[in-house]
Amino acid sequence: MKTIVFSTKPYDRLFLEAANEEFEHELYFVEPRLSIETASLAHGFEAVCIFVNDTADAPVIARLAEVGVKLIALRCAGFNNVDLQAVEKHHLCVNRIPAYSPYSVAEYSIALLMTLNRKIHRAYNRVRESNFALNGLMGFDLHGKTVGVVGTGRIGCIAAKILKSGYDCHVLANDLFENPELVELGIDYVSLDELLRASDVIMLHCPLTPETHHLIDAAAIRKMKHGTVVINTSRGGLIDSTAMIGGLKCGKVGALGIDVYEEEEALFFEDLSEQVIRDDVFARLTTFPNVLITGHQAYFTHEAMSNIAQTTLSNIFVFETQETCENAVYCDRIRIKEKKN
Ligand code: NAI
Repeated sequence: MKTIVFSTKPYDRLFLEAANEEFEHELYFVEPRLSIETASLAHGFEAVCIFVNDTADAPVIARLAEVGVKLIALRCAGFNNVDLQAVEKHHLCVNRIPAYSPYSVAEYSIALLMTLNRKIHRAYNRVRESNFALNGLMGFDLHGKTVGVVGTGRIGCIAAKILKSGYDCHVLANDLFENPELVELGIDYVSLDELLRASDVIMLHCPLTPETHHLIDAAAIRKMKHGTVVINTSRGGLIDSTAMIGGLKCGKVGALGIDVYEEEEALFFEDLSEQVIRDDVFARLTTFPNVLITGHQAYFTHEAMSNIAQTTLSNIFVFETQETCENAVYCDRIRIKEKKN
């Protein structure tokens, strides 16, 4: 299928081209992100392939429909950047990768937590300058601590298991649905309120939805124990960054590890080292010694990249050849009818 791949980095191309030997789609790679300015590039393509920070809002979707696009193939799990009402209005289809390696993100979340807790990021820099002093590098045993996991789907479930079985933490969970496997392991499901009040560490693994937007705001931070460690590898919008700065300044939040940021579209995945960062909130966050920020790389493992490429191309193939796709986020009924006839 003729597909334009937006936001292409060299590593995306490498994995997609390797996987495409099996599918033989007609892939056209472009570096720009999908936006209202770039949507016209999709003229003549049936599918657009996009990533987490591409914009697929109502005006972009209208433009895509106008130039003949039928499918938006997400090469990620989250679809908060796609306006599904507009997709329905314009009879497009959207599919995604529900899971490509939940281990990559769960393991990375633990890495962020342990790096922050044991100050490995600071020790690394000190040793490079022959500073072997230990002042300021003291951490805490994770063993026996209470860790609250918000969202126990694919990623949160693995993180909870690592924390319970590997570190012997007391794990509290909060989700709309209980995962029986975790209950069996002795993990307690509690209200968000209870989780916020009781946890030494809070890890966010729920999707960004209107209900979870700014889940961690000033009120939530007030409920936390003094010195709580917060880890977010899910979506930036889960945390009110300005409120978080307040929490860090007063010590309610003892450390913050984030791989995502609510305004990351303007920053992440690009080399901006020659430019001035205009986002004052982000710039302030980078000044705290107890804040560790990475640029949306939790998923970035060999296994995950392989699975993403394979499933993205398979989703396009299924769209082309079959009536329904199990990885569809939205599948237009008119299209299904068209295929039947
Ligand atoms: P999933 O869909 O398997 O699990 C999400 C869980 O959150 C579900 O159990 C759901 O019931 C729960 N949930 C939904 N609304 C909730 C609410 N209001 N309160 C509490 N729980 C709620 O998703 P998965 O695969 O575990 O991914 C989680 C998130 O991780 C994704 O939505 C995505 O935003 C993020 N992600 C980040 C990556 C990175 O590289 N940083 C890579 C992949 C995913």
